[in-house]
Amino acid sequence: MRILVIGATGLLGTEIVRLLSRDHEVIGASRKGPALTVDISDKASIVAMYRQAGAPDAVICVAGTAKFAPLDVLADEDFAFSLANKLMGQINLVRCAPQAVKPGGSITLTSGVLALHPIPGGAAVSVVNAGVDAFVRAAALELAGKLRVNAVSPGWVSETLQAMGRDPDEGVPAAVVAQAYRKCVVEDITGQVVSAALSPQ
Ligand SMILES: NC(=O)c1ccc[n+]([C@@H]2O[C@H](COP(=O)([O-])OP(=O)(O)OC[C@H]3O[C@@H](n4cnc5c(N)ncnc54)[C@H](OP(=O)(O)O)[C@@H]3O)[C@@H](O)[C@H]2O)c1
Repeated sequence: MRILVIGATGLLGTEIVRLLSRDHEVIGASRKGPALTVDISDKASIVAMYRQAGAPDAVICVAGTAKFAPLDVLADEDFAFSLANKLMGQINLVRCAPQAVKPGGSITLTSGVLALHPIPGGAAVSVVNAGVDAFVRAAALELAGKLRVNAVSPGWVSETLQAMGRDPDEGVPAAVVAQAYRKCVVEDITGQVVSAALSPQ
C-alpha cells in the first residue's frame, strides 16, 4: 500500500512511519515535510498536498493542535484556533478525500482520551477530541463502500509523560500506540474509535 502519514515527524508519527514502512510505501507530511508539506488548518494546503500525493491507498493524520489552558484563561481565539486546527483540519482531510484517495481506501484520524476522561485545563482539547470521534462515526455512514474512516484515541503516551517529568508507566509507549493506527489501515473496519489507552476507554 501507499500510505500518506500527516504528522510523520512527530512523536507518534515517527513510530507509525517506522512500523508501516516495513510492509508499505510511506509518504511523510507535516508543515515541514519530510516528503510533502501541509498545514491541515488550511484547506487549500490540504488540496495541494493531496494533488502531490497521487492517490494513496490510506491516509493517517497524527497532526493537529488544540489549546490546553484553564477555562477562565481560554480566549475566543483559543477555541477558534483549536477548532480550526485539530478538528476542522482533520474533518477537511476527510471531506477532500473522495477526490484524492483510492476508492476503497482508508483515512485514520487522531482524537484522544480527554474526549471521555476530561481533566482541568482540557476543555478545548476535550471538545475537539469528542468532535473527531463523533465525526468519524457519522462520516463513515455516508462514505460506506467508498472510503473507510476511523479514529485512534490515544491515552497519555509514555514518552510524553516522561518529558513532563511524570511516570512513563502511566502511559502507553508510542510504538504500541502505532499499532492501533496499523489496525485501522489493514483491518476492514470503519466508523470505529480505536482506543490506544492504558485501560479500556
Ligand atoms: N503525546 C500524547 O501523549 C498524546 C495523547 C493523546 C493524544 N495525542 C494526539 O496525538 C497527535 C500527535 O501527538 P504527538 O505527541 O505525536 O505530537 P507531536 O510530537 O507534537 O507531533 C505533531 C506532528 O504534527 C505536525 N503538525 C503539527 N501541526 C500541524 C499542522 N497544522 N499541519 C500539518 N502538520 C502539523 C508536526 O510537524 P510540523 O511542526 O513540521 O508541522 C509533527 O509532525 C495529536 O493530535 C495529539 O493531540 C497525543
